[in-house]
Amino acid sequence: MKEVNTTVQSFKESIFATMSALAAKNEAINLGQGFPDFDGPLWIRDLARNSFDGKNQYAPAMGVRPLRSSISNYYKSFYGLDFDIDSQITVTNGATEAIFSTCLALINPGDEVIVLEPFYDSYLAAIKLAGGIPVPVTLKAPEFSFDLKELEKAFGPKTKMIFFNSPHNPTGKVFSKEEMQSISRLVIKHDTYLVSDEVYEFLTFDGLKHLPIATLEGMRDRVITISSGGKTFGLTGWKIGWITASEKLSHAIRMVHQFNTFSVCTPLQYAVAEALSKLDSYVPEFVKQYGELRDFFIEGIVEKGFKPIKSEGTYFVLVPTPNGITDIDYCSELIKTKKVASIPLSPFYSKSNEGENYIRFCFAKKKETLAKALMNLS
Ligand SMILES: Cc1ncc(COP(=O)(O)O)c(C=O)c1O
Repeated sequence: MKEVNTTVQSFKESIFATMSALAAKNEAINLGQGFPDFDGPLWIRDLARNSFDGKNQYAPAMGVRPLRSSISNYYKSFYGLDFDIDSQITVTNGATEAIFSTCLALINPGDEVIVLEPFYDSYLAAIKLAGGIPVPVTLKAPEFSFDLKELEKAFGPKTKMIFFNSPHNPTGKVFSKEEMQSISRLVIKHDTYLVSDEVYEFLTFDGLKHLPIATLEGMRDRVITISSGGKTFGLTGWKIGWITASEKLSHAIRMVHQFNTFSVCTPLQYAVAEALSKLDSYVPEFVKQYGELRDFFIEGIVEKGFKPIKSEGTYFVLVPTPNGITDIDYCSELIKTKKVASIPLSPFYSKSNEGENYIRFCFAKKKETLAKALMNLS
């Protein structure tokens, strides 16, 4: 029989699935996978329950109007960005579909796409399936900033776009305005697009504020901004994401979306629409809750002798591996001997072997889960 798609043949099972399976086999506490082990707020789940009557048929492909309207309102009130409800906002099946539809809509075979590594794993798969050529640029540990000369060299006549993610998974870094300005200057100079993955936009700590890169001068129509209700409301299984982009780019993305997922779960869209209208009161609570979990876990592992890298945002924290042990071996060792699962960093890289020096813990877990893990790590 003939072979399946050759690009797909090169894909492996994701590291999250591998480590979760190993964690389950060893009955380890899973601080690997990036989602809470508790439900999102009851009031949002109640909103969903209430929207199950009369809202059960296909939603419009671009998303229900109340949700697009709430998205438009929060971009305006939080960031001063104006997106047209009808032509510049598209609801997707989570940020993952948003990434995929964007790549298929914008990339022609042979186009180069710059990815800052370590990167979220779906970027590479989406770029490759669209026929694009990933061009990795390594963020330098432990600050995880880029070397401007190296980034400059990565841009060329074939560059179609660059992936950018802040707050950043897996490092927990929040990029500075100066770093974003440097990237923006290159994007404008080389007339390219930028995909900005902002799924952790509301999860910044220590008074840091998220700044969408689309707000920088000259960037509004070059940026495809992606976010996720699953992350913002701690309801990752809902898979309600969205894209804000210029009319031209939104149109192209919608052409892919209509033949892929077509439309997204109708009742949950209504619930997220309502939840987004309450961000002003919700976000401070959300940041406080996750900030406390971060402090509890980080203080705990520091006491155990680990030397974590400061997590400025997201719900992840990196820990260096001990000398002479690589990330994958260290993760396996922690699962087997301490019954605590984490994620090795090397699968987040395609060029550098820097990832061998770090593992990632997720602290979006109940305090008792984190306390048990800390006891095990003694
Ligand atoms: C950086 C980043 N982008 C995108 C996603 C996917 O988000 P969603 O669950 O909305 O598809 C995740 C999920 O872990 C992520 O960490």
